[in-house]
Amino acid sequence: MSSAPEAPVIPAALIGRLRKARSMAALTGAGISAESGVPTFRDAQTGMWAKFDPLELATPDAFRRNAKLVWDWYAWRRELVAQAQPNAGHRALAAIEAANPGFLVITQNVDGLHQAAGSANVVELHGNIRRVKCSRDGTIVATWDDSSPREAPRCAQCGAFLRPDVVWFEETLPDDALVRAEHAARDCDVLLVVGTAAEVYPAAMLPTYARHHGAAIVEINPSPTRLSDRVDYTLRGPSGVVLPALVTAVWGDVPAAR
Ligand code: APR
Repeated sequence: MSSAPEAPVIPAALIGRLRKARSMAALTGAGISAESGVPTFRDAQTGMWAKFDPLELATPDAFRRNAKLVWDWYAWRRELVAQAQPNAGHRALAAIEAANPGFLVITQNVDGLHQAAGSANVVELHGNIRRVKCSRDGTIVATWDDSSPREAPRCAQCGAFLRPDVVWFEETLPDDALVRAEHAARDCDVLLVVGTAAEVYPAAMLPTYARHHGAAIVEINPSPTRLSDRVDYTLRGPSGVVLPALVTAVWGDVPAAR
């Protein structure tokens, strides 16, 4: 019978660094939502990319080739995300913001679970799957008719196909989001890097950029990543266990964000 994973001991030096920090930020990836039942991308077998080919589903070319296939796949993911609840890891980051108003969450996730947990300062680098937009001019639409069994829904204004408001491979990130993320990485004293394999750019360059500007990098991940040999602190474990322990160790029982 497997017992609940134990939180690692939080080093005293890290506790001191977080208490003294003038500015902090977190970079999060799919791993923080794993405990909410949202599959990650690269985890062997369980990750999305083990089952689906990203080049068939998450590129502009794939959409041009088969908009219906891509639409249905995102509709399936949107349903998954709609069922998911934020977990203790999301709530812990929201609690850090409650105790440190300038705290910023920079997320690669498109699930909106940080905001659902009460985080107000969130930069979405890869968009949000809950939003849908016109593929021609990017206008966000509130409603759409996807009853057609043969094709993806179309924009009521111009007739172009609708698509999820997410960033696909080969596409550039939203300018304002990237600028905010870079500023936060440059200015922060501590960057928490939570649940990301750090393999997708430009998000994966943020920890190196922050470290170059003097920040302490804290990796929170049950497994090593390609970033692991370039961080200052490593907390091995699921973020839903590690982050609440970190918050309690540094700030005591911080009231929940909501
Ligand atoms: N807590 C913390 N980390 C976890 C947990 C957990 N409970 N479970 C898994 N992880 C870690 C894995 O060890 C892995 O390092 O989360 C990481 C997930 O990595 P990926 O699946 O590669 O996700 P991510 O890094 O967010 O991917 C980046 O790639 O596919 C694109 O656009 C997509 O935003 C995504 C980007």
